[in-house]
Amino acid sequence: MPSASRSTHEHELELELESALTVLRRGGLIGLPTETVYGLAADAANEEAVRKIFVAKGRPADHPLIVHLADAAAIESWAEAIPPYAWRLAEAFWPGPMTLILPRRSHVLRVVTGGLDSVGLRIPSHPLAGRLLRAFGGGLAAPSANRFGKVSPTTAADVTRELGDRVDMVLDGGPCHVGLESTIVDATGEWPAILRPGAVTAEAIAELLGKAPIAPRLDAPRAPGRLASHYAPETRVDLAFGGTLGSRAMAALLAGLRVAVMAKSLPEELAADRLGGLAERLVHIPLPDELEEAARQLYNALRRVDCEGCDLALVELPGEAGIGAALADRLRKAAGQGAG
Ligand code: TXA
Ligand code: MG
Repeated sequence: MPSASRSTHEHELELELESALTVLRRGGLIGLPTETVYGLAADAANEEAVRKIFVAKGRPADHPLIVHLADAAAIESWAEAIPPYAWRLAEAFWPGPMTLILPRRSHVLRVVTGGLDSVGLRIPSHPLAGRLLRAFGGGLAAPSANRFGKVSPTTAADVTRELGDRVDMVLDGGPCHVGLESTIVDATGEWPAILRPGAVTAEAIAELLGKAPIAPRLDAPRAPGRLASHYAPETRVDLAFGGTLGSRAMAALLAGLRVAVMAKSLPEELAADRLGGLAERLVHIPLPDELEEAARQLYNALRRVDCEGCDLALVELPGEAGIGAALADRLRKAAGQGAG
């Protein structure tokens, strides 16, 4: 970019940030770009503002929200009894796609924590989020900016489409780099437990700390992973196992359904010259094999499934190493097969 237009761009950005700050200070809601997904943000210290989030999303009031902060040092204003391992995680993975669940300080609003004794804290790495948080000074409570139970938005346009005038303004930070929600780590016990897998992987945590995270306690605090159907498009999503993608799709086409196949390429048996007239009801939604790229594109692909007006979407689960665990988790939930 030539420097004149760069400074115009910078000037526009400044104005956008100023408006966002004004909205937040007045108790309004903004669409917040982060590296994971877009958030629906309000001043975490303003009870009335936080309540608006629940109304805008149609979200049950007992679901806790994540508080976003400018830097790791700020977590001591929100949490206490922070274990040494949590500081190590913070140092290694923040700013970034990880949320730490920590014992909350008593001033943290109940409406933020859903009445729990803990609070979720995250330092996002998106540069625009960072600038806004530093200028704001306080914490921003923000869930993903989708209607309750729906697919998380990964562009500013998605937020506008999801929430329309239920959000006062949307800061456009471009498409989200990670594409899946943050890894939620329960740091209220003696050793970390992953409540929701994300781009900070179990393997990376194990390597850092020299020991793998433990399984969540049975009475572990609620995370979206506890809901069977979350991140779900309108269209029914089914998982195909053991190379059955092609035959499952064929059976559904023969039954008269309009079928989306989410895969890098179509299986051989679905080649146009083999399908004849059935091909008209087959929609190929490309989803790369490479896991990080697939994560980045997954929610967009799920939204496309709805736009195409399909009756059924079929997809194969990826391998569960690394970020594959998070992808598989979201796909299972899209298919209504989340844990409990
Ligand atoms: O990447 C993300 O985490 C995005 C961006 C916007 O930061 N946010 C996000 O928020 O996914 P949300 O609300 O859609 O999912 C966060 C989940 C909540 O559903 C809740 O179950 C869990 O985090 N959570 C928050 N506070 C918690 C707490 N104190 N204990 C247990 N779980 C908590
Ligand atoms: Mg969400």
